[in-house]
Amino acid sequence: MKVVLAFSGGLDTSVCLKLLQDKYEADVVTLAVNVGQDPEKLEEIKEKAEKLGAIKHKSFDLTKEFVENYVFKSIKANGLYEGYPLSTALARYPIAVRLVKEAHKEKADAVAHGCTGKGNDQFRFDTTISLQDPDLEIIAPVRELNLTRSWEIGYAKEQGIPIPVDIDQPYSIDENLWGRSIEGGNLEDPKNEPPEEIYELTQSPSEAPDPEVIEVEFEEGIPINLNGKKMDGVSLITKLNQIAGEHGVGRIDMIEDRALGLKSRENYEAPAATVILTAHKALEKLVLTRDELKFKESVDSLWADLVYRGSWFDPLREDLDAFIDNTQERVTGQVRVKLDHGSARVVSLESPFSLHEPELVSFEEFGFDQQESTGAIKFQSLQGRIFRKRQGE
Ligand code: ARG
Repeated sequence: MKVVLAFSGGLDTSVCLKLLQDKYEADVVTLAVNVGQDPEKLEEIKEKAEKLGAIKHKSFDLTKEFVENYVFKSIKANGLYEGYPLSTALARYPIAVRLVKEAHKEKADAVAHGCTGKGNDQFRFDTTISLQDPDLEIIAPVRELNLTRSWEIGYAKEQGIPIPVDIDQPYSIDENLWGRSIEGGNLEDPKNEPPEEIYELTQSPSEAPDPEVIEVEFEEGIPINLNGKKMDGVSLITKLNQIAGEHGVGRIDMIEDRALGLKSRENYEAPAATVILTAHKALEKLVLTRDELKFKESVDSLWADLVYRGSWFDPLREDLDAFIDNTQERVTGQVRVKLDHGSARVVSLESPFSLHEPELVSFEEFGFDQQESTGAIKFQSLQGRIFRKRQGE
């Protein structure tokens, strides 16, 4: 049997690589996809795969595709799940699509991934794989064999699989250009405060430098310019991760409701995503009507739920995107954001599509005859007044 395994070089997928050979008697082709991690890691991953017995290793840098086809859509949809920027979820889709593509090229009998049976990633992988090729077998050793993390660590030691030294309970970390998630170890218990060592992209807010104002320019809902410099998506997010990270922006510690209904304690670092989504939302408030904003909020929330639960390729996601794209035609303009010891606060907004009419709202100018508003107010209470009258009858 020939299997293509999505391989990150972490504990789960390294254990899978060995198990696929030993327990499933498979020839394994490993596939590593870069979605914004340090590109040097790809070389390390390749060496590890070969050392652990892969018959072939393939790697792809999909960072640009990830940003332009997934992250940009998420920005337009204010992609937050229960308040944090979707990141792992978004990156699973291009990986799963590539996995199926390579399985076809390799004439493989199955694809494999290292997801557990408890998390959300299995929803994203399995759903996407089966939508691309319903006949392709999916092997998920950790889920099928009911493995625990400590069993995996024991097996890794026994099989000579390199694991991070000095940690008996390593965290489960997933990283891409849009964010980094840290779970497991003693973080599982919500009563434990996260130690400083879990953070890599952000500095402690209390040690951040003096506040700094940055400017992001959006064109049709997408960030195109940072501090006066035009940039492609990957460079802009990379740069902003660095600036906002230095100010301690984008640390999130929360209880999350997983697809299966399990509550889990999750930590995230998403400096650029936090700034961009905050700025984008503020700009929308300037250019969209009250009713558009209200309706879009429910669309955004549905969009995020779909993407979180593995349904990127559901037709509804595309339907929602059609509405979202139409609203974004006016989401163009400059937003200045103050980064201040962990917070990102919008301090200035400008747009050619602004619906803010200074002379109408000003305390100093006429704009319209103020007496006209009394009529509108009277009608606002019309039904209430009739109701009270009936009660009194
Ligand atoms: N809870 C987050 C999500 O579902 C993070 C998942 C992280 N995955 C991982 N293998 N560590 O998107």
